Amino acid sequence: MKGFAKTSIGKKLFMSISGLFLITFLLVHLSVNMTLFLGKEAYNQAVEFMDTNPMIQIMQPLLALGFLLHISYSFVISIQNRKARGVERYAVVDNNNSSWASRNMLALGIFVFAFITVHLIDFFLPMKTTHVADAYELVVSRFDLWYVAACYLIGFIALGFHLHHAFWSAFQTLGLSNELWRKRLARMGDIVAILLPTGFACINLYFFIF
Ligand code: HEM
Repeated sequence: MKGFAKTSIGKKLFMSISGLFLITFLLVHLSVNMTLFLGKEAYNQAVEFMDTNPMIQIMQPLLALGFLLHISYSFVISIQNRKARGVERYAVVDNNNSSWASRNMLALGIFVFAFITVHLIDFFLPMKTTHVADAYELVVSRFDLWYVAACYLIGFIALGFHLHHAFWSAFQTLGLSNELWRKRLARMGDIVAILLPTGFACINLYFFIF
């Protein structure tokens, strides 16, 4: 296993599996945050459920590990590919067909990582360390500020571009994309890349405007 993790395909496999795991987290996270539209009580109950459910508590360290693996391997693969190919980047699988997102996966990833770091300091830390009881009020107080709302929007756009390439690329690494599925997965990737950032952005804009 240790030896496999060091091979090129092993690293890409870890990146793909951790990436798909992070996408699953984002789908759950968006669903929980959508309850913001149902009002204060519903959202605080949903957050309370996430904070106390034993399954979620087990998943949280796994999520942190997933992030760590994904980020570490992205750097290792990028450095190796740069060495091997000069200026080309790791995500360029098909040079003739490569999209802007695929050529800038590392930069987009770093941007999303910066966003998540700020987000954790902004939301996760106050909730864990000072035990903010009212998660709803925390969200409202943050998205009321135009510069916070604007930074989040930029983060969501970067996330969308990152996911646009990441989704089908992960399945390709897993060997699940033949000619037919390649197209289907690309469409599904488009949907995920639009759905997730748009969902988060709707929340952001709603609480900024109203
Ligand atoms: C409208 C957008 C968003 C809102 C309102 C929001 C809200 C929150 C809140 C309130 C927490 C703390 C939950 C707790 O401690 O119980 C949290 C945690 C977290 N958020 Fe977000 N979030 C948003 C978007 C995002 C996005 C786009 C990402 C990733 C790209 C993200 C990643 C995380 C992570 C990794 C955690 C820590 C794990 C967890 O508590 O589940 N969030 N978010």
